[in-house]
Amino acid sequence: MHESLTDKLNQLEQKFAAMGQDMASYLEGLLQADYLTYWDYIHLETLLSLQNPKTAYPDELIFVTYHQITELYFKLILHEVDQIAHIEPLTAAFFTARMGRINRYFQLLEESFSIMITGMEREQFLKFRMALLPSSGFQSVQFRQIEIVSTSFRHLLIGAPEEPEHIADLYEFMYWKRGATELATQQKTLTLRQFDQHNGAKLIRLAEDYQAKNLHHRYQQLERNGQITPDLVAALREYDWRVNVRWKLAHLRSAVQYLHKEPEDIRATGGTNWQTYLPPKQQQIIFFPELWSDDERQNWGQSAGIPSKPD
Ligand code: HEM
Repeated sequence: MHESLTDKLNQLEQKFAAMGQDMASYLEGLLQADYLTYWDYIHLETLLSLQNPKTAYPDELIFVTYHQITELYFKLILHEVDQIAHIEPLTAAFFTARMGRINRYFQLLEESFSIMITGMEREQFLKFRMALLPSSGFQSVQFRQIEIVSTSFRHLLIGAPEEPEHIADLYEFMYWKRGATELATQQKTLTLRQFDQHNGAKLIRLAEDYQAKNLHHRYQQLERNGQITPDLVAALREYDWRVNVRWKLAHLRSAVQYLHKEPEDIRATGGTNWQTYLPPKQQQIIFFPELWSDDERQNWGQSAGIPSKPD
């Protein structure tokens, strides 16, 4: 028998023997097994069965599918952050390479947002959107998870007291609690209340778990060890800008495109405070504040231009 084949068989035998298993039985299993197909591996049938519009408007398929595509990218982003959070020892090279992947995903999401902004008929959108209430992308728990694993919890709060220190007590001050407020009554929308009921406890646990391993914390660890490189700083700045300015602006453009009404009309017809809440310059969310100058922080979200490399 070919030498490398004998080698492989020996290795296999050792692998099975280590678990008290008989290799011959497994080889018999291989003889019986079918070849793997693309469609089984990708779960294509299941995947294509998951787009279920609620109305007969053809453009709703675009809406539901694009949300799913975004959620899949969010999953990949969380997957990369998870690796940065847990690898020991973390190096600047690994951190930078993984941030490069994440930045590419966000760049793609931002560029593809034109599928939402100009890719659907407004008349259809305004009709089918009514059938989806009170659900909203605002309820994307993966987006909130990305924020929480990216930075110190305090950077996501507005108006929080210096004390208390417990994350559970600070949760009410998360910046997005200011969104999804009904203009007419100034009450939290059902969208927000349902989100909290379903995800609040889970998000608090995640924030506690990531206190000492979120991206901002990992950056600070490297900094204390004198291991920061200009490439890592550039990658983290790019990330901050892609999530908190560029993606938010692309998303805002879709809201403006479909939902823009004069303030009087909104008050008359209900609706939320999205016009004042969504613009990144209002939110001022920054994951890595120390990587930006005072000037850059003060002008956060004012311009969509690419941030220059720091000196
Ligand atoms: C035509 C397309 C879209 C429109 C018109 C739209 C509209 C809105 C509005 C009005 C809000 C504010 C929440 C509220 O007032 O209830 C919101 C929030 C949000 N939406 Fe969308 N959206 C669109 C597409 C998407 C997509 C594709 C995603 C991807 C998951 C998404 C994710 C989010 C997120 C994460 C928030 C919260 C943003 C924040 O807190 O800053 N949206 N959206």
